Amino acid sequence: MTEPRTILIFDTTLRDGEQSPGCSMNLKEKLEVARALEGLRVDVIEAGFPVASPGDFEAVRAIAREITGCTVAGLARTIDEDIDRAGQAVAEAAHPRIHVFCATSSIHRQYKLKRAKEEILRMSVEGVRRARQYTDDVEFSPEDASRTEWDFLVEVVTGVIEAGATTVNIPDTVGYAIPNQFGELIRHLRQNVSNINRAVISVHCHNDLGLAVANSLEAVRAGAGQVECTINGLGERAGNAALEEIVMALKTRSDVFSAQTRIDTRKIYPASRLVSSITGVRVQRNKAVVGENAFAHEAGIHQHGMLSHRETYEIMRPEDVGLPAGRLVLGKHSGRHALKERIEAMGHSLDDSQLNEVFERFKALADKKKDIFDADVEALIDQQLGAQAEVWTLDGVQTTAGSNAIPTATVTLTREGESFTDAATGDGPVDAIYEAIGRITGMRLALRDYSLRALTSGKDAQGEVTIEVEHEGRKLRARGVSTDIVEASAKAYLAAVNRAITAANAAREKPEQP
Ligand code: KIV
Ligand code: ZN
Repeated sequence: MTEPRTILIFDTTLRDGEQSPGCSMNLKEKLEVARALEGLRVDVIEAGFPVASPGDFEAVRAIAREITGCTVAGLARTIDEDIDRAGQAVAEAAHPRIHVFCATSSIHRQYKLKRAKEEILRMSVEGVRRARQYTDDVEFSPEDASRTEWDFLVEVVTGVIEAGATTVNIPDTVGYAIPNQFGELIRHLRQNVSNINRAVISVHCHNDLGLAVANSLEAVRAGAGQVECTINGLGERAGNAALEEIVMALKTRSDVFSAQTRIDTRKIYPASRLVSSITGVRVQRNKAVVGENAFAHEAGIHQHGMLSHRETYEIMRPEDVGLPAGRLVLGKHSGRHALKERIEAMGHSLDDSQLNEVFERFKALADKKKDIFDADVEALIDQQLGAQAEVWTLDGVQTTAGSNAIPTATVTLTREGESFTDAATGDGPVDAIYEAIGRITGMRLALRDYSLRALTSGKDAQGEVTIEVEHEGRKLRARGVSTDIVEASAKAYLAAVNRAITAANAAREKPEQP
């Protein structure tokens, strides 16, 4: 029997994922995700696009300094400044990689880059050569490869390998590919690129037609050795191939793929929860592998089958993806140690002072509600991480509303130790709160979506408000959690205001994203 191949998992949650609308993360959040990815044992973390802004540069550098168990990559266009910034950002990594990309399809050449084929080839080759001055580990991506003429793609891939690229990534940038065609493309490159044995073939598929995972898996069957993906399938537009689906498909159907990954699959669920709670992007209930219903059996006939023999209706075991057995976790009498254990099992790693603060919040919450569930603990961690990036903090909110009253809100906020109070009326109490916050902060965010749900079961459950807002053309998501839904609404809006301020600062000097 032949040994299974090991497929490298390149995670781009912190770059392509973070680039998707409303998913920006602050430095602390990025570090937390990077630690979870290291715990998951991904092979490569694409930590960001260093030239994009000083904040992005610092985040890539901080991750490169801290993470030793994986390769840390920084993205760059073929522009000298991009490559230099990426090289500087990953310089201190134990295993640094620079990922250079240049669009190759005729539509991108003509309308975006306005360059002829020869120039694209020259820029790509020179970009790789420059990156090699910083590290021996250089990846090159011909952006929009799946819509590029095959003979030109062969020329570019041959050229960049000759120039020193050690990984050639074939992106389906707009999610246009169909599995058998995409597999054919990979086979074509393997057969026609004379020096292909000197590089790993990687794939990077977007999900516009819902085929990102299928295309990536077909590419593996055709010989790709690396798959680029993100936790929960986050990413531009419809997202990227979902890491959890790729990994579990390769594991569950190793008979088809003869391949394995190094991923510790028991860390998948915690990583998914972590990314969802940090970005505010909920995982759909029926999402494969990590959705709430992925292992739930409702129909009586299925339950009966499961009880007689689990494999009648289950192809993966929930414990293999790290799904917690019981959801009830803690209560009023639980100690700091139990909380710490629970937090770690959920995939978070907090330092002592963060843990102390979360424990204080936990005790305060346990006075208000009897049972504390995973979702409550997650919200506490969220508040703690969010608090560190707060410009404005909420001190108090009161509202009056009713059938014959004009809804009014009085809000008190603090900024740098100074307290500000204002009142406003609105169409309803939430509108009045948002108006009052706008008057104090001077920030006017257009509310695009507002949703309220009970975070857990039970009548003492906390309310979770998730909102999507738009500010200066940027979409932002934020959430607020409290046992009082009026306060949860105020917290969500204020979190969005704080995110908008951070994003506006970071956007200065930011070039266009790839
Ligand atoms: O989708 C894409 O083509 C990319 C490249 C930068 C790899 O994200
Ligand atoms: Zn992409």
